[in-house]
Amino acid sequence: MNYENILITQENGLATITINRPKKLNALNKATIQELHEAFKSLNDDANTKVIIITGSGEKAFVAGADISEFAHFNVTQGEELARNGQAILFDFVANLSTPVIAAINGFALGGGLELAMAAHFRIASDNAKMGLPEVSLGVIPGYGGTQRLPQLVGKGKAMEMVMTAGMIGADEALACGLVNYAVSQEDLLPLAQKIASKIMRNSPVAIAHAIKAINDNYTDGTNGFESEITQFGICFGTDDFKEGTTAFLEKRKATFTGK
Ligand code: COA
Repeated sequence: MNYENILITQENGLATITINRPKKLNALNKATIQELHEAFKSLNDDANTKVIIITGSGEKAFVAGADISEFAHFNVTQGEELARNGQAILFDFVANLSTPVIAAINGFALGGGLELAMAAHFRIASDNAKMGLPEVSLGVIPGYGGTQRLPQLVGKGKAMEMVMTAGMIGADEALACGLVNYAVSQEDLLPLAQKIASKIMRNSPVAIAHAIKAINDNYTDGTNGFESEITQFGICFGTDDFKEGTTAFLEKRKATFTGK
């Protein structure tokens, strides 16, 4: 598929999606959200893709938010529909992907931009990153999962402060409060994401997919995460990767996983 707003590169099992609207600071308009959905879906469906990195083009922004010009005139029904559809096709979709997704935050990650980074499985930020949920400064609240995922990552009090002040925090503060796993220089951002991706790729893709499901189930209403872990653990015993991983260990050799 041809994309107008995103770029995709693929090399040795690692796919990198770059949101490419630098003149609009990579703001998420409807077309970009749809393209991201298609891209994440097709990469996740491709067994050759082992890890996905999501980042923004240019040196200024990861994503400066949802495209304000597209929803400024919306009414109540349209507002609700915007949030529901966006959560379904992109934000929850990414969070529940079975392929690991790393957000490489290379500048402003505001509103929907931070929400997209938070939907990824974990985050790395460069030292020029500025992160925040400024929606209340526009008279609205985060609608792409921000009120739920931010407190999960940084705790309720810090999330309340960030949302109420509409303020931005830098990479070091984001590291200190658990919003990102690493804060590095701009030139080290993608190399570090790639290095972590290569460590992930040594492991069983099928086991990783079950681990993502079990961890996410801890945050799913009405689901007992411990019970989910038992189920996912059991399923692993029926996989080729489990046989290969345990056999390779006992034979003192490196495992070759097929992801089956
Ligand atoms: N939606 C639509 N367009 C956006 C945007 C957004 N969320 N964020 C930036 N842009 C556009 C600007 O309108 C501008 O377009 P123009 O050149 O056609 O006027 C372009 O991107 C560059 O942004 P600009 O504001 O000139 O850059 P800056 O360096 O002065 O400021 C920000 C950077 C991030 C502080 C500022 O763009 C901003 O506050 N953006 C909105 C952030 C926000 O509220 N996001 C949450 C949305 S729910």
